[in-house]
Amino acid sequence: MTIDEEFRRRLDAAAEATETQLDALLGAAPLAGEIRRPARLLEAMRYASLGGGKRLRPFLVIESARLFGATGESAQRTAAALEMVHCYSLVHDDLPAMDDDDLRRGRPTAHKAFDEATAILAGDGLLTYAFDVVADPATHADAGIRANLVLALARAAGLGGMVGGQALDLEAETAKTPLTLDEILRLQAMKTGALLRFAVDAGAILGGASPDAGSALTRYGEALGAAFQIADDILDAEGDTAALGKRAGKDAERNKATLIGLLGLDAARARRDFLVQAAVDALAATRLGEATHILAQAAHFVALRSN
Ligand code: IPE
Ligand code: IPE
Ligand code: MG
Ligand code: MG
Ligand code: MG
Repeated sequence: MTIDEEFRRRLDAAAEATETQLDALLGAAPLAGEIRRPARLLEAMRYASLGGGKRLRPFLVIESARLFGATGESAQRTAAALEMVHCYSLVHDDLPAMDDDDLRRGRPTAHKAFDEATAILAGDGLLTYAFDVVADPATHADAGIRANLVLALARAAGLGGMVGGQALDLEAETAKTPLTLDEILRLQAMKTGALLRFAVDAGAILGGASPDAGSALTRYGEALGAAFQIADDILDAEGDTAALGKRAGKDAERNKATLIGLLGLDAARARRDFLVQAAVDALAATRLGEATHILAQAAHFVALRSN
């Protein structure tokens, strides 16, 4: 399996649209109701969100929405909001109290480039701003759709989603007995899967997908999310720091609960590939035909990527 040019082109287009949105949203001028945007905090939020990353989550929002005929500003703003939540999660993930990393997207982590308090606040600012963006009428004229997006994003990002998964990930480092397979799968579905699943659910919400197509797309998102974190763990074990733009080899050092630790590299690779196929199969169940080819490519990209 290879990744085709069309996929690369659309991933680049999503990245460019996201950069443009984020750059505009993170301008110096306060919005109605804001008092002032402190320069150093704004700079840290821009540092954490602009000029890097694969932008896979924005791509998934934009391409899922496109399947149902929703293109343009609505999808792009929702994509940028999700990327803000993702970037906040990375800033906090890298803090000394969490994974204690110095390198992210090939640059010093936010707390290294600024300071810890500023990094924490930049994360807080990005998280809050994401909900501002989704709730803003500029994102969609229909208040019901905006409310559905807000609810889905909150569920994905919070206690029973990404934040909850991060808590389990940290707890597992010092657990007396190693986590079971099911516990690791649940942890990963939460810390990583939830935001990736939201990406495709957001597309379905924006495009008014039928319940059947929406739930098939959700299954795609769940399988893709699970494959994504296993691939991340494999890259940590095998990849090199320069290509990754973040330090390799840290999971074993920190006693992270991963499938590699539990089952070994070969079994982890096999499960990743099985999940990619499950994601592709779920796309067929959407009954949207050839249009889903781009999302099938994204599933393969998750496994084949080198960063
Ligand atoms: C890294 O996500 C964190 C995980 C959820 C594993 P990405 O690999 O998508 O990071 P960027 O956005 O491309 O930097
Ligand atoms: C991070 O998982 C998941 C989130 C940021 C929510 P990792 O800790 O494995 O991500 P990296 O490897 O630091 O990017
Ligand atoms: Mg982590
Ligand atoms: Mg980390
Ligand atoms: Mg990792």
